[in-house]
Parts: sequence; structure tokens; C-alpha cells
Amino acid sequence: MKARIEKIFGLLESPVDAIVLANSTEPHLDQSFFYAFDVPSGLFEGSVAIAKPDGHLDVLTSPLEATSAEEAAKGDPHVTVHAVSRDGTDAAVQKLLGPAATVGLHYRELTHDWYLRLEKALPKVTWVDATPAIRKARATKDATEIARLRTAAEIGSKAGLEIPSLLKSGVTELELAAEIEHRMNRHGANGRSFSTIVGFGPHGAEPHFQPGDARLKDGQSIVCDFGAIHRRYASDITRSFHFGRRDDEMKRVHETVEAAQQAALDTIRPGVPAKEVHLAAEKVIDASPWKGRLIHGVGHSIGLAVHDGWYYGPQIADPLEEGMVFTVEPGIYLTGKGGVRIEDDIVVTKHGYEFLTTAPRGYVEVAA
Ligand code: GLY
Ligand code: MN
Ligand code: MN
Repeated sequence: MKARIEKIFGLLESPVDAIVLANSTEPHLDQSFFYAFDVPSGLFEGSVAIAKPDGHLDVLTSPLEATSAEEAAKGDPHVTVHAVSRDGTDAAVQKLLGPAATVGLHYRELTHDWYLRLEKALPKVTWVDATPAIRKARATKDATEIARLRTAAEIGSKAGLEIPSLLKSGVTELELAAEIEHRMNRHGANGRSFSTIVGFGPHGAEPHFQPGDARLKDGQSIVCDFGAIHRRYASDITRSFHFGRRDDEMKRVHETVEAAQQAALDTIRPGVPAKEVHLAAEKVIDASPWKGRLIHGVGHSIGLAVHDGWYYGPQIADPLEEGMVFTVEPGIYLTGKGGVRIEDDIVVTKHGYEFLTTAPRGYVEVAA
């Protein structure tokens, strides 16, 4: 934990005396709190982490999570856990910050309510935005984070492999989504990265479609997008299938998306501007009969959040770095008919990339 805190302080544009990471109530929890304080269990609503430039971390938590917090801090001389009541949190922050004159906050995730509370408790402090440093620190994952992301991706991959056996005439989107989530849990997930997407036929043409009671019919394509949480780290995988009667157009669409994904993957290595990854996939799709039907950026970083702060998009010049973990997820969306998206998780390595997801990506037809 000390190394992560020092990494954040080392990336600040100007020095601060401390950085405060404060959680509100679910879903307004700052995942950076869990970046600084690596604790596997507990919600930590209302908890606060105070990091100092020497790598020390004070964690203020309610008695609700004190056992997990103390367990996580055990043997680490750089972490001190303080169990405080909700009512006592502001006074404890005030005391622990002591004479600090300039304090960094994570503006991107801090609620306005927390900001007002901090201003009131410490009226003389100058608050500065530590978001760029936190975002940059979290962008390149350490070995522990990569191992967790790999496990999360393996769990998603195992569930993905089982989807063809779940495709039966008349199954509803909600039933299939529930089964995918159940399978991920059985494979070791302790949560889902986001609400599972299952779209049959025309619903697959909407990238973030939420499953409903539509039933699977002969001749439909299917998009399933899901992810597992393992030790707070998220995977994100999409597999597309075809059910029953062959549709030659959807088969060619699938093959084009596969080619687009490969073209994107082929660009990945340290130093490459993120937009190159997007543009490589877009070029393949725009040279096909489905020009313009890639309607989103071709990927995003994953980590403690499924959308972890970094994206590939046509304008994004940020260079890739070793240790970044991204999705690569081109798709083609045909309104009124269906969609195909193929999404994998990769880690950027010294000379290229390595897959974290392992489920096969090729065209799969399931008999009706
Ligand atoms: N699961 C949402 C996405 O792929 O970004
Ligand atoms: Mn994704
Ligand atoms: Mn996804």
C-alpha cells in the first residue's frame, strides 16, 4: 500500500501535505480508497483514507468494518486504522490532518456533500485536485492488480464458454443473464462488474441493452456482455452467438468484427497513442459494407472499476504503457436487426500485449 501511495504523490504536479479519499454511500464509493487501502471485504461507506507523502495511511472507518480493516492493516507499519463513529469522522479527519496547509482531493469521485464537510472542518486548508495523479497511478497496474484482473477475466471466460449450452428456444434474456451471473459466481466471482447485458436479435444492436422478457427465437443473433469481480477487480467480456437458422449477413458481420479486433490488437504496445487502437478497428469496419456501424470507442481501461478512467477513442493521444489493462471491444450494430461485439481484456506488456480473457472468440452457431 505504501508503494501505491508514494506512486500517487510522485505523480502530483505540485506537492501537498496529504491526500484525502472519502467515501460517501453506495454507489458513491471512491474506488481509489481501495487502491490506497487494499482490504478485500467490506463496503466502507462514509470511510476516509488520509495518505501522507511518506507513504503512511490513516484509515477512518466505522465499527462496522473495523475487523476487516484491522486484519488488512495487520503487520503493515504504514497503515493505521481508526474505528470512529459516523458522527466523529469529521473531527477525526480534522485532528489527523493537523497543521496540513494544502491537501489533495479526488475531485472526480468526491461528493459535493463531502467537500462542504471538509471545508467546514478545515476552513484554512487549500484544497487541490489530485485527480490527474490518482488517475495516472491507477492506470498502470502492479503485479497484485494484474493477478486479480487475470483471475476476474478467467472467471468471465469460464462462464462465456458455457453460454452456448444455455441457448435454448424460448429462454428469456433475463433468464440467460441470471444464468451467466450464477455461473460466474460458481466459478469464484464475488460480484458482477456491471449489470449483465443480454440482447436477442434487434436488442443486440444497442450496445448497453438491459435484458428483459424477450424470448430467444430461431435465426436470432445474441450479444452477451458480462464481467466478474474478484478481490474488487473487474473483468469485462462480450461474446456474440447465432441461434438456429443461418443468417449469412450476421456471419459476415461476426467475421468482420473479429478482423477488426485483431487489427486493433496488432497495434498494442507501449508508446502507441490510444487512438491508433481505435482507428485500426474502425478502418476494418469502415472498409466493409457496415461502414459507420462501430458506434463506440473500441475499449477502456479496467481495474477497480469496469470503466477505470482511460479510453481508446479516435481523438485520444495518451500513449499506452506497460502494465495498463484494457478491453478491446469492436462491434457492428445493425438497427432493427442485431449486433455483434467481441470484447476481450488484455494487459500491455513490454513488447505488445497478453490476453487475460481466454474464451474462444470465433463465430459460433448453436442449433435451434
Ligand atoms: N460492459 C460495458 C462495456 O463493455 O463497456
Ligand atoms: Mn467494456
Ligand atoms: Mn463489456
